[in-house]
Amino acid sequence: MNQESKKFSYDKSAVCPIDRGVALYKRFLGLRKEDLENKDILDIGAGLARFQQEAGKPGTKIISIDPMYRYLTEDAEKMLGKEEEKDDTKVSGRTSVLRFRDDFVKKGRTRKNKAAAINEALPFLDESFDLCLANFSSFYWADYQYPDNAERKVMVQEMVKEILRVLRPGGEARVNMDWWLEDEYKDILKGMETELLFSWEIKRRENLRILILRKKEAFEELSFGEK
Ligand SMILES: C[S@@+](CC[C@H](N)C(=O)[O-])C[C@H]1O[C@@H](n2cnc3c(N)ncnc32)[C@H](O)[C@@H]1O
Repeated sequence: MNQESKKFSYDKSAVCPIDRGVALYKRFLGLRKEDLENKDILDIGAGLARFQQEAGKPGTKIISIDPMYRYLTEDAEKMLGKEEEKDDTKVSGRTSVLRFRDDFVKKGRTRKNKAAAINEALPFLDESFDLCLANFSSFYWADYQYPDNAERKVMVQEMVKEILRVLRPGGEARVNMDWWLEDEYKDILKGMETELLFSWEIKRRENLRILILRKKEAFEELSFGEK
């Protein structure tokens, strides 16, 4: 599939306005305060972009992408029909959508650091970011949108390749997923590591698994194995 035909091939039912802030990103992605300092950060499947609002600081630039931004611009009323919903892990629903819509669609104030896009086709140049985050988005949605294992494998490989493409050498990505996918994703990643210049690990956190991808510095590959 070429980049163009992949654009917005997501299932609209996978689009829902959720709005976690920086504290919940840290908790679910295992991040420390210093991990977010002086970095160019890409938030993939960012929802209503509360993380960007709270974590953006001088020295730290955050870009949010989500297919929802296109949907929200064109079809906002459907989303406004959703009920308010609050618990300890998320804030979403009508109030958040209205706030975001006013900011993004009407005032256009925050548009320049957001893009309507999917993780399988990131609209950025190679080596643009130090840190890529996907909190309850990429891997999480892959489970729902691609229940077939073979399809999911292709989708996951595409996602990993895209993330590695936009990461700078030495950069890191953190992506969380459902715990029961751990073995399947280990197999997929083992099959990729010789092809692409990266290392990975999967950490356990509550009921989640956090996949950490590290893009190697070019010189590591040029050492001819000498220690
Ligand atoms: C559960 S919300 C999480 C939002 C935010 N990251 C948070 O933690 O609050 C998942 C987001 O993934 C987005 N999404 C769905 N399919 C996607 C895809 N293929 N690529 C990127 N994001 C996607 C949805 O639109 C939704 O906003």
